[in-house]
Order: sequence, then C-alpha cells, then structure tokens
Amino acid sequence: MSDKLEFRRYLVDIDSISSSQLFTDCLIIGTGIAGLRAALETAEHRNVIVVCKGNVKDSNTFKAQGGIASAIDETDSFEAHTADTLKTGCGMCDEEVVELVVRQGPELIEQLLGWDTEFDLSGSRIATTLEGGHSHPRVAHAHGDETGRIIAEALIEKVRQNSKIRILENFFVIDLLTSNQNKCMGIIGRNSRGESQIIWAARTILATGGAGRLYRETTNPEVATGDGVAMAYRAGAVLRDLEFVQFHPTTLYIAGATRALITETLRGEGAILVDNKGRKFMKDYHEAAELAPRDVVSRAILSQMRKTESTNVHLDVSHFDKVYFAKRFPFINELLDSFDIDIAKDLIPVRPSAHYMIGGVKTDSSGKTNIDNLYACGEVASTGLHGANRLGSNSLLEGLVFGKMAGRAVSQSSKATAAHLKHPLIKYQIPHSDRTRLDTDDVRNSLRALMWRNVGITRSSQPLAEAQEIIRFWQRYVMDKVFDSPEGWECQNMLTVSLLMAQSAQKRQESRGVHFRRDFPDCDDERFKKHIEISREQ
Ligand code: SIN
Repeated sequence: MSDKLEFRRYLVDIDSISSSQLFTDCLIIGTGIAGLRAALETAEHRNVIVVCKGNVKDSNTFKAQGGIASAIDETDSFEAHTADTLKTGCGMCDEEVVELVVRQGPELIEQLLGWDTEFDLSGSRIATTLEGGHSHPRVAHAHGDETGRIIAEALIEKVRQNSKIRILENFFVIDLLTSNQNKCMGIIGRNSRGESQIIWAARTILATGGAGRLYRETTNPEVATGDGVAMAYRAGAVLRDLEFVQFHPTTLYIAGATRALITETLRGEGAILVDNKGRKFMKDYHEAAELAPRDVVSRAILSQMRKTESTNVHLDVSHFDKVYFAKRFPFINELLDSFDIDIAKDLIPVRPSAHYMIGGVKTDSSGKTNIDNLYACGEVASTGLHGANRLGSNSLLEGLVFGKMAGRAVSQSSKATAAHLKHPLIKYQIPHSDRTRLDTDDVRNSLRALMWRNVGITRSSQPLAEAQEIIRFWQRYVMDKVFDSPEGWECQNMLTVSLLMAQSAQKRQESRGVHFRRDFPDCDDERFKKHIEISREQ
C-alpha cells in the first residue's frame, strides 16, 4: 500500500451556488495567542474574520500555566535564550528563526503589558521564573499559574474593540478551498446555525492549534483534534516533523478527573518528584534532576512507574509555604482543594501526557506555507523554532511573534483584499456510501488508546507498524462517509493526523529530542539530522 493517504480532496459535498457566502480580506482560523495576535496585526490595513469551532476561549493558550519565555531580565541575554533553544532542539532548529523570535520577545511582551495584560511584577519589573532547559529565570507569568488565560483575555478584549475584526464562534471549518493553481481561496465550513457556509478570503491564516486529543492522556482541551493539519494536508500543504510530539511530565493523575496540567514552574521553584515509596529518583536519571529536559523527565517517570509497579509518581510540595503556594499557583491550589489534597501533608499524583505538537504545517519565516495565500502560525505550524524538542514556555512566544509576522505579511500585501477575490464555481460531489453504521465516539476512544500505546513516549518499529495498519483499517469505513457534524469531521481529521504521525515516527530510525525509539536509542546525525516532510500526492 502507498505511503501516502489516498482519499478525497474534501470531506463534504460542496455547491458554491447554494451555500451562503461571506467575503473578507483575511480569514483567520483559531483564537489562541497566534490567531488573536495575527488578527490585530492584519487589521492595521485589512478587514478580518476570525472563526473558531467553539467558544473564543477554547484554546491551548487559555490553559497555559507556566508562562512566556523571553530574555527580559537585565542579567539575561538574547544569546543565552538562543543557545538554550538550540540546545534543547537537538540540532534541528532553524537558527535564523530562533534569533528572530528570541529578539522580538521583550518588545512584544511589553506591548502585551500595554494592552492590560496583568503580568506578575517584581518591584516595577515583570517577574521571571525558571523552567527546565533555561539557563536563566526568563519565564514571565500572570496571575501566578494563569498566564494563558490572562494573555488570552487581554487579546480577546483588544480584538473585540477593533471594528475591522469580526469573530464567528461555533464555526467549524471543514476544508480549505484551493484552486487548480495551488491558491487558497478561503474555506467551507458549518456556521453556528448549522448551515453550510463558504468564506472567500484573499488570504487565510491557519492558527488552529495542536492535536493533543489524538492521545488518551493529554493536557489539551477538547478542541485540539488536529483539524488544521488535516485540512492543510488535504489541500496539499507540506507537513514537517510530525513525529515530534512533546509529552509533559506532570499531569494530575486522579482516575475520572480531567488530566489537568501541573506546571513545570512548580519544579522550577523547588517541587520534587518522588515515587510511590516516597523516594526521590530524578538524580538517578539526569544531573539536572527535576529540571532536566521534559522528554528526559517523562521517560524517567515512566521507568520509575514500571520499576515500582505503579500507575503514577508524585510531586512533593510539602515544603512550600501554604500562603505563598495559594498566591503563586492559584489554579493548581483550587484544583487540589477540589480533590481534598492538602499540600502540607499529601503528595500530588502525576504522570506524563501528550502536551504539544512540535511538527505541523511547514512555513517560512513570515508564516507563509507552500500554498499561495495560505499562512500558518502557532502550534499548527512548523516554523523551525523548536527543532526536535521545545523549550518550556517558548510556544506562547512563538505564537505571539509568528502571529504578528503572518498578520503583517497579509496586512502589507497589496493584493490581500476582498476586491481581488476571484472565485470559481465549485461543485464537488462524493458518491454516497452506506457501508456500516458508525459510532464515532468509539472510533475516537479506540484511536486515542492506540496512539497512547503505540505512538507514545517511547516507540519502536513493530507497534508503529501495527498502529498504521489499524488506523488504515478504521479509515476504510470512516473516510468514505459524508458526515454532517463536527464529531464526524473531527474523527476523520484525527485518523488522518494520527496515521501521518505514526508514519513519520516510523521513518525516523533514531532517538532525538522528544522522539525516543527503543529499537534505535541513539541519535544518528549522519542519517537523520534532517526534517521528515510529508505531503499529499496531488
Ligand atoms: C507548563 O506550565 O509547564 C507548560 C508550559 C509550556 O508548555 O510551555
């Protein structure tokens, strides 16, 4: 069977005459930090529609705790932030992109402050803290561990005040519309009234976020189903480095509870990992102990769980002052309270879970993809910043910088106006299939369990091959359907992205950054110091 997914170009029938239609200079898909920042920049000179599939607040950004990394402390430097990012990325970062992002950090954070983002202060300066892999405390935070919510709310407010930006919530984008000349012309989607709708756009910016929901265990919200990567793939975009999935070491593990993130800044400020016998173990695995890179900590936890035959390890924060803890980590404090966990005497049960998609839609340094008029920024994009492993808190920074740059490229492009839109009639019909009835919830749950087992923190050839075979089998009876609900389209997108991830993970026969192969435990620069790119045969 071919290595590529051969299936239809669009997930639904399209009839551009009978669909309701909107026209805009720029369409932005997604309301995380990248999408919102892109909207503000684009609106300098263009009209913008921003769509999101749920509420404007449903994003990974909103849930971000630790913070946003930037060399804002006077004893820090761009060189040090660049060096830490490159080291963590294990030889796979694009050095120019790293420098470009790192150097814009202080100015863009200052701008956020000017837009009423209430960063925590130390005296009159923005306070910074430490996370793994950083040689300097450079993680700025807001309301303690609610950095994402505070930044997102400030940006949403700013966007809402801008008369050139219109936000459409509960709008599910099904597919990007492209011409035969490889130009993106907008999207087909389903609006909040449940109607099919086309939005013709001179420029489209994908800012759809990540795909943590492909895994049974994840810190990500329900919206993170990889839709942007899947629709970009169907449209012919080049995808890069999909094997690099970052697992966060510490997610609250209480059966039945949502897998809430327990921020790494807690370890940055002294929290200790202990196993179920109360034994500290991180020094056995890495000299930096609790502040070793995330992939090292995640694998150490798995190994310790196996050794002690337990389902999780614990974070010990009993030495923290309770009043300080409640003020510095208010979200976690409330969460623990709700499970009657008293930090003075109880340990916090944690284990790793899928957290961040490092790979994605390949872009250049202005966020442009290989499809004309299509840009990507934020977690959906592969810009070259993270390489094979992402330095903690570099993702909000990337979203901010690339959101701005993609928005600026659109705003300054003379032809990026609805007046220049040339859109053909589109009629696309899919042969009807009634093969089997489907329980898409069951497919999703089975897929998430399979990805966790076979394409998870550690990988090897046989489970990766098995995952591909099973996903292809499921695809046979899921991909031939025409769904009329987000649940169905998400299920199709999840199968697509999962297969591509498993294929990429199979191809990288080495261990590098977040990608660990039990059958190839060493880094192999000679064969694999290169990107793995995938695109659909046109
Ligand atoms: C955390 O707070 O631990 C997550 C921050 C990040 O993923 O960058």
